[in-house]
Amino acid sequence: MILESNNLEATHDIGRRLGAALIVGDVVALVGPLGAGKTALVRGIAEGAGVPDSREVNSPTFVIVNEYEARPPGRSESPQHGPGPGSAALRLYHIDTYRLRNWTDLDALGFDEMLAQGAALIEWADRVEPLLPEDRFTITLEPIDDTRRRFHCHAGGPRSQALLAALR
Ligand SMILES: Nc1ncnc2c1ncn2[C@@H]1O[C@H](COP(=O)(O)OP(=O)(O)O)[C@@H](O)[C@H]1O
Ligand SMILES: [Mg+2]
Repeated sequence: MILESNNLEATHDIGRRLGAALIVGDVVALVGPLGAGKTALVRGIAEGAGVPDSREVNSPTFVIVNEYEARPPGRSESPQHGPGPGSAALRLYHIDTYRLRNWTDLDALGFDEMLAQGAALIEWADRVEPLLPEDRFTITLEPIDDTRRRFHCHAGGPRSQALLAALR
C-alpha cells in the first residue's frame, strides 16, 4: 500500500493512526534517507500511542534507543479512551541504528527484551534487518519534494497486517 503525505501535518496524522493501533511486540521498520521524515512519523506514532510529551520526541541518534511510556495502566478505564487492542500498558522503543556498527550491537542492547515490553520503532531499519522478525511493518519513506513524501507500506505477517489495516 502506498500513502501520500503532502505536508508535515499529514505525516503526523498517519503516525497517530499507526500509534493508536500498536501493541506489545510490534515492530515498525522505517527506511529512507536523511530528512525523509522518519522521526516526524515517530512523533505522530508516539502521540497516537499516548506518550504524554510526544512533541519532545527527537531522533535518538546519539543514544541509539529512547524509551517512552505510552498508555499507562489504568488509562483504558477512563471514559475518554475506550477499551481496545491499544489500551493496555505499552512502552515505545524509538531506535536509531545510524551509529551502530552492525545488527549484533542492537541484539546486545536487549532488542528481544524490548519487544517483550513494548513496540519498537526503528530508523534506518535496513541496517539491522537480520535481527528483525519477519512479521514487521516496513515503511519506506520516499521524498518527492520539499513537503511531499510517499510512504511505501509493507506488512510481513499477520500482526503487521493489522497495522496496515489501521492505515487504510
Ligand atoms: N510531508 C512531510 N513529512 C515529513 N516531514 C516533512 C514533510 N514535509 C517536510 N518535512 C520536513 O522534513 C524533515 C524531516 O525530518 P526528520 O523527520 O528528522 O527526517 P529523518 O528522521 O528521516 O531524518 C523535517 O524538517 C520536516 O519538517
Ligand atoms: Mg531521524
